[in-house]
Amino acid sequence: MSLENKNIIVTGASSGIGEATAKKLAAAGANVVITARRTERLNELKDEIEKDGGKALAITGDVTSKEDWKSIVEQTHNNFGKVDVLVNNAGLMPLSFVENLKTDEWDKMVDVNIKGVLNGVASVVPDMKETKAGHIINISSVAGRKIMPAGAVYCATKYAVRALSEGIRLEMGPKYNTKVTSIEPGFVATELTNTITDDDVKDMMSQFEDLTPLQASDIADSIYYALTQPEHSSVNEILIRPTNQDL
Ligand SMILES: NC(=O)c1ccc[n+]([C@@H]2O[C@H](COP(=O)([O-])OP(=O)(O)OC[C@H]3O[C@@H](n4cnc5c(N)ncnc54)[C@H](OP(=O)(O)O)[C@@H]3O)[C@@H](O)[C@H]2O)c1
Repeated sequence: MSLENKNIIVTGASSGIGEATAKKLAAAGANVVITARRTERLNELKDEIEKDGGKALAITGDVTSKEDWKSIVEQTHNNFGKVDVLVNNAGLMPLSFVENLKTDEWDKMVDVNIKGVLNGVASVVPDMKETKAGHIINISSVAGRKIMPAGAVYCATKYAVRALSEGIRLEMGPKYNTKVTSIEPGFVATELTNTITDDDVKDMMSQFEDLTPLQASDIADSIYYALTQPEHSSVNEILIRPTNQDL
């Protein structure tokens, strides 16, 4: 399936996987709506995409805000038309050991990684019901399949994203011809670990130093694959790890 002129919202597009995905999809002819909180990074990305001949709309927003979602969808409609694809990618990973009681960080992960995803789904389902088409890509993780120490809450959010993806697929696939894909990366070299504040975890993370991590562009390639399959083929899950990652 071609992405030419498809209207695609990518959350968390100011860095990492979201940024690489927006570039890849814009290069394939999609109209990309890039959103995140860091306006400057979004504007730089918009300039880069446009310089390469692509089309991008940058909208500053917080995925936890229903008001911001309303504005993202309205601006998408006004500039491009109905939403064809949502890449629900924004997330954070402040890993911590439960006994250290970083409860504010637990709350943030639930708010962004789960409620933010739900806000996105609620914002695009009306368009997909109407067009009887569409594709929702949710970024879960290997952490949505395996639980690791210091990851109780992060893993719980990513298990939730995987469960939501399957639940939405069950309802929206047969009835509204809408595809849903859960993308489940292992370790990818991005800014994601910057949100870790628990010193005990920082020591633990040294075990990943020998890994050759995935690059954000590897995940963008997986997303592109899921989006470009023929209409009758719905890729439901992609699990992708660095070759030398065991967990
Ligand atoms: N890196 C990995 O190893 C890995 C593995 C598996 C899954 N993932 C998942 O991949 C997704 C992307 O992460 P990444 O690795 O690319 O890390 P990243 O570079 O840190 O990107 C995270 C993105 O989320 C955005 N974000 C965070 N909170 C937000 C909020 N409240 N509202 C809107 N945007 C928000 C950030 O933008 P602003 O700060 O500008 O808002 C940023 O663009 C996450 O869901 C993560 O859990 C990553």
